[in-house]
Amino acid sequence: MDSNIIIRFEHVTKQYDDDPAVLDDVSFEIERGKFYTLLGPSGCGKTTILRLIAGFTGPTNGNIYFNGKIVNDVPADRRQVNTVFQDYALFPHLNVYENVAFGLRIKKMKQAAIDQKVKEALKFVNLEGYENREISEMSGGQRQRVAIARAIVNEPEVILLDEPLSALDLKLRTEMQYELRELQRRLGITFIFVTHDQEEALAMSDEIFVINNGKIQQSGTPTDIYDEPINRFVADFIGESNILPGKMIRDCLVEFNGRQFECVDRGFDKNEPVEIVIRPEDLEMTSPEKGKLKVRVDTQLFRGVHYEICCYDEEGNEWLVHSTKKAKVGEWVGLHFDPEAIHVMRFGETEEEFDKRLETYEEVGHEN
Ligand SMILES: Nc1ncnc2c1ncn2[C@@H]1O[C@H](COP(=O)(O)OP(=O)(O)O)[C@@H](O)[C@H]1O
Ligand SMILES: [Mg+2]
Repeated sequence: MDSNIIIRFEHVTKQYDDDPAVLDDVSFEIERGKFYTLLGPSGCGKTTILRLIAGFTGPTNGNIYFNGKIVNDVPADRRQVNTVFQDYALFPHLNVYENVAFGLRIKKMKQAAIDQKVKEALKFVNLEGYENREISEMSGGQRQRVAIARAIVNEPEVILLDEPLSALDLKLRTEMQYELRELQRRLGITFIFVTHDQEEALAMSDEIFVINNGKIQQSGTPTDIYDEPINRFVADFIGESNILPGKMIRDCLVEFNGRQFECVDRGFDKNEPVEIVIRPEDLEMTSPEKGKLKVRVDTQLFRGVHYEICCYDEEGNEWLVHSTKKAKVGEWVGLHFDPEAIHVMRFGETEEEFDKRLETYEEVGHEN
């Protein structure tokens, strides 16, 4: 067993009564010291995964390992895990010190040791001197830090964070994203963070698990998932995309919009129906003659750094373009894109099959 793996799910299924499974054959590994994010829409099973890790519930089928040992029946208070809940679940009648000290008092630690540990934890989250404050006198961001101090004071091997930022306003939320990421680096312990916000996941994570309908759709680094989405759900959920039906004519040649385009994808059947993805920032506006596609500008929004331009081609397909150049609404323009900008997706491909196919790319070697 790889000692760097701290948590492992092996074919885990979770089902309540006769309802459809909430988690369906989920397998993954969590490495020590990394920042993981579980990303997916509401109801996809994120909190259920955290509850299984924390030991608040057990799997219906499959096994959960902690440091190489099966922990399916190990109760929550005997796991090296602490959870930071969305509403922080702080005790409103206790001050900051007592909130952080709570777990240590339960362990019957000596007062001097508690003082020392609470002091260190509060220093870690930049709340020195706030010991005697009431929770009601703390701002949203400060409460968040108290909740984290309360988790780290127990020196867990893993901290679980269930949408801890979703109640904060945008500015504070961005600040806390930096703070959490920095804190995780300094502590060096594993964070498993839950969000339904793709931008947050891309910004913060070493690894992302994209989840839908109780299944992990894809796992990988933010750039892997952004650049090589495995299916329409992932491409659509993460970042903005142009997704179209197409046909793989042969290796490195794909047809869509009734025309054939050079691409870099391989390993498909001849004339296999596929879906193609082109990211809006990979489309460049040109004169109508120079473009690979001809589109008419329909609407345009200024987004601070770029314009978000919505166009339609002659077949009526919508094309989203991100450009630093302004367009003219109603005008016909050309769209240019490189072969690398086209990403081809195979229907129903599993992550394993997808990875195998990508390996064959490396054997052949990329152009350029
Ligand atoms: N104790 C429970 N009993 C029955 N169904 C549950 C229970 N807990 C969660 N579920 C169902 O499991 C699904 C996933 O829930 P959850 O893991 O909370 O999703 P998420 O955190 O991604 O929003 C939902 O359809 C939810 O209704
Ligand atoms: Mg949830």
